[in-house]
Amino acid sequence: TVTATPHTPAQAAGLAQFPVARPRRLRRTASLRRMVAGTRLHPAELVLPMFVKEGIAEPQPVGSMPGVVQHTRDSLRKAAHEAAEAGVGGLILFGVPEHKDARGSGADDPEGIVQVALRELAADLGDALVLMSDTCLDEYTDHGHCGLLTEDGEVDNDATLERYASAAVAQAAAGSQVIAPSGMMDGQVAAIRAGLDAAGFEQTPILAYSAKYASAFYGPFRDAAECAPQFGDRSAYQQDPAGPVGEALREVRLDLAEGADAVMVKPALAYLDILRQVRDLVEVPVAAYQVSGEYAMVEAAAANGWIDRDRVIMESLVAIRRAGADLILTYWATEVARRLS
Ligand code: PBG
Repeated sequence: TVTATPHTPAQAAGLAQFPVARPRRLRRTASLRRMVAGTRLHPAELVLPMFVKEGIAEPQPVGSMPGVVQHTRDSLRKAAHEAAEAGVGGLILFGVPEHKDARGSGADDPEGIVQVALRELAADLGDALVLMSDTCLDEYTDHGHCGLLTEDGEVDNDATLERYASAAVAQAAAGSQVIAPSGMMDGQVAAIRAGLDAAGFEQTPILAYSAKYASAFYGPFRDAAECAPQFGDRSAYQQDPAGPVGEALREVRLDLAEGADAVMVKPALAYLDILRQVRDLVEVPVAAYQVSGEYAMVEAAAANGWIDRDRVIMESLVAIRRAGADLILTYWATEVARRLS
């Protein structure tokens, strides 16, 4: 009898069929990897957060967020057009008013900066992308908290609800197509839903920041929106990062019961476990916010030559998508949308 000549070292070693399972087979070529990729990003799923500041003549760079600016109304329109051209799904607008007061009057003033900017964007952009607005008071209050204060300096939940409803109506009237309440007051979605409905905006959806943590990753945003609390912090209304996981799921369930059309988890990368659990819990679209600190860390490390910026950006977005986000709010939206198309 003739013995077959061994073809491979494994066969020669008497391990003819080893290893049978070779996961590497599907990784060998770029076309194979592309074909079997389970997670894909699309520009339409990206939402660009933008800041518009009242009373400035030139866009102002945000020191802790290289590449991000506080826009003038003109530069905002231009950047919004660029986002739409790149195929970005939507933008979410934050206002930086010239004057602040205890009740955050700029939030619902029809001549407040966000309302003025929304009217201009709506007239300019038509249906090229979705116009959303962050609904909160912190950008508008002189004390920097997300709600009205009691005499003892606590955030007064129920008194704040009326302000949120009024701000949401002002934003919808100015052309906001999605209201995104971020203040973490109990009952805020119900109050806003009732306010919108009573004002004839029953078709305006609510994207609720449902599971929003009291996060140090918001640091740079406070430069961008000029809204650092003047005393204390937001731990009495935003969630504790170490809090029970069930708290996030409960917040999501409550928001849905109150009429939320979509829910959000924020921040993103440090909360992918929460994102996955929320995704498994609900049928509505789930958004994740890749926040200012996540952006700043990558930009800072890249500026030092310590990481490959573009690859880290894409990897982080893929991770957020894979964990279950249908929508991703990211300051890189326009750049990434261009790269994808
Ligand atoms: C509140 C709001 C904040 C962010 C979005 N909406 C700040 C906060 O809660 O302290 C943070 C976004 C970011 O860090 O990119 N209006």
